[in-house]
Amino acid sequence: MKERISELNKEVEEFNIHNEESLEQFRITYLSKKGLISMLFEGFRNVPPEAKRDTGLLLNNLKQSATNKYNEHKERLAMIEVAGPSVDLTMPAYPFAEGTRHPISIVRNEIIGIFSRIGFTVSVGPEIEDDNHVFTMLNFASDHPARDMQDTFFIEKKSGIESDPHDVLLRTHTSSVQVRVMENQQPPIRTISPGRVFRNEAVSARAHCIFHQIEGLYVAENVSFADLKQTLLYFATELFGKDVNIRLRPSFFPFTEPSAEMDISCNICGGKGCNVCKGTGWLELLGCGMVDPNVLDACGIDSEKYTGYAFGMGIERATMLKYGVNDLRLYFENDIRFLKHFRTEIL
Ligand code: DAH
Repeated sequence: MKERISELNKEVEEFNIHNEESLEQFRITYLSKKGLISMLFEGFRNVPPEAKRDTGLLLNNLKQSATNKYNEHKERLAMIEVAGPSVDLTMPAYPFAEGTRHPISIVRNEIIGIFSRIGFTVSVGPEIEDDNHVFTMLNFASDHPARDMQDTFFIEKKSGIESDPHDVLLRTHTSSVQVRVMENQQPPIRTISPGRVFRNEAVSARAHCIFHQIEGLYVAENVSFADLKQTLLYFATELFGKDVNIRLRPSFFPFTEPSAEMDISCNICGGKGCNVCKGTGWLELLGCGMVDPNVLDACGIDSEKYTGYAFGMGIERATMLKYGVNDLRLYFENDIRFLKHFRTEIL
């Protein structure tokens, strides 16, 4: 009996199962009721008692390995049936084309990271705004020429009068989020507000009707212009590298007094003067200043007690300076050949 078992073991092992028919043949030959293994089990009755234990073990093992082989091949053949015979499931998979972050998202996330590390929160506001939050509360007088600085997309003009605070429009800058934050929160406030803004401009390499900004706002007791300057220097060196220099030029915005524009030293020529910086060695990056007391008061913050600084920048502008891409339109076309140049670890 033992010999027969080991013969069958060999047979089972060598049996070639390559399709449904041979699988069935295997089952009938070895595993069916009248199969060779069942026959051995019948013969087992006549094995002398002293040999039963050993022989029984071998017989059970034989049955187990035949059953395993049957099941494995059955599963394999079923998979081939699903996938189709031409598919080799053992082939390595096709390489997976991973997407990349949009450069604007990369730079936005990087800027958020830089300010988060020094305690700024992130706040957002609506893209569809009213005149009040975009202009009036930010100290734009109704006949102020600064209102003409920004060509606005109006959604609903509420009355015939020019600059009605109830007019509904697409925000032209993220400074409107400053107002919303200050209306709802008392100092200390330390926040940045990223978002889309809209201006009625003809699309060209240097202008677009939709773009992105990040606004910054810090309001507390004893906030000074020196705090603003130091924060901006920290920011510029984090974003552009430790060798970058900044300079502040006096400027004007209705909502800050004093106001300034910040330039960074040209990262192409290192400040010596080249085509990109038009020989000046400097590139303009953002607007900033001390929050005008009128703005604080309009938002219900005591301007006798608190002072603050604010700044605002275009993310496209920062991205252009960082990557040296000088046509704004590329950021909106979603041409995959352009986008796949940008890779980042930051999600
Ligand atoms: N809102 C300005 C713009 O769109 C940018 C700006 C300038 C924001 C100065 C500020 C600021 O907060 O203080 O051009």
